Amino acid sequence: MSRLSTRHLLGIKDLTKQDIELILHTAQSFKEVINRPIKKVPSLRDITIANLFFENSTRTRISFELAQKRLGADVINFSASTSSVKKGETLIDTANNILAMKVDMIVMRHSSPGACVFLSKKVNAQIINAGDGTHEHPTQALLDAFSIYQKFGTLKNVKVAIVGDILHSRVALSNILLLNTMGAKVKVCGPSTLIPKHISSLGVEVETNLEKALEWCDVANMLRIQSERQDTKYFPSLREYTLMYQLNKNVLDKIKRNIVIMHPGPINRGVEITSDVADGKHSIILEQVENGVAVRMAVMYLLAGKQED
Ligand code: CP
Repeated sequence: MSRLSTRHLLGIKDLTKQDIELILHTAQSFKEVINRPIKKVPSLRDITIANLFFENSTRTRISFELAQKRLGADVINFSASTSSVKKGETLIDTANNILAMKVDMIVMRHSSPGACVFLSKKVNAQIINAGDGTHEHPTQALLDAFSIYQKFGTLKNVKVAIVGDILHSRVALSNILLLNTMGAKVKVCGPSTLIPKHISSLGVEVETNLEKALEWCDVANMLRIQSERQDTKYFPSLREYTLMYQLNKNVLDKIKRNIVIMHPGPINRGVEITSDVADGKHSIILEQVENGVAVRMAVMYLLAGKQED
């Protein structure tokens, strides 16, 4: 099979195992391309893509734009803070006005969960979810999986601990859905107040003790506390959180085995992870960022093949 089963990328929940395998396999080819002296291919030469960011981003926005340029697409960047959204224009009106300029694909980040699904039903363009509130961040999960695959040569039975603010994390949900589909084993770890009540229904185990989670896992994916999405206090103080859930050299020394350290970024150094660990030899945080370009090239290339469906 060389085509995706879906016309949009709204969430990992819409992808089959074959879709995920196809994206990861295609990303490998694009990783080779972007490591060549000439880093560009003309695969999307006739495609125009708009990046609509209604919420802040560094990695995802730049990574998508670079991926689009590496594929030869025409690119428009839209930032809500400098647009007519500030004058009261709706999401649908904004999108339709951009599409009237003959745009084929929209990459959107929005603070409202479900915003990308909503847009996909209202406008005639392919939509890629670049993070919608606390819901999903599918390309982050794909690049995380690609990075794990590159380390272990498989995803099957790889043990991944996702640590931190699971409750507010779109990265956690997309990772759980993807890793389960691909046969990896997932534990979530954090204070019980930051773990959704029914998370075990997604097929993951819960561990509230960081040391135990680290003793079990091959990979620790560290998440930051999403203060911008918290309207209530989920733990007594940041200091108490770091005492119990910070990944630092002391904790790693105790477990006496090497584990791969991941983080989707942005990192809050000294909170969920210390600098020596984030920058240490077992960290693949910057490899994740590099892999993000190849994975996003694969996603857009494969979706472009579904344009007429
Ligand atoms: N990982 C991630 O989504 O980072 P940004 O918010 O910087 O895009």
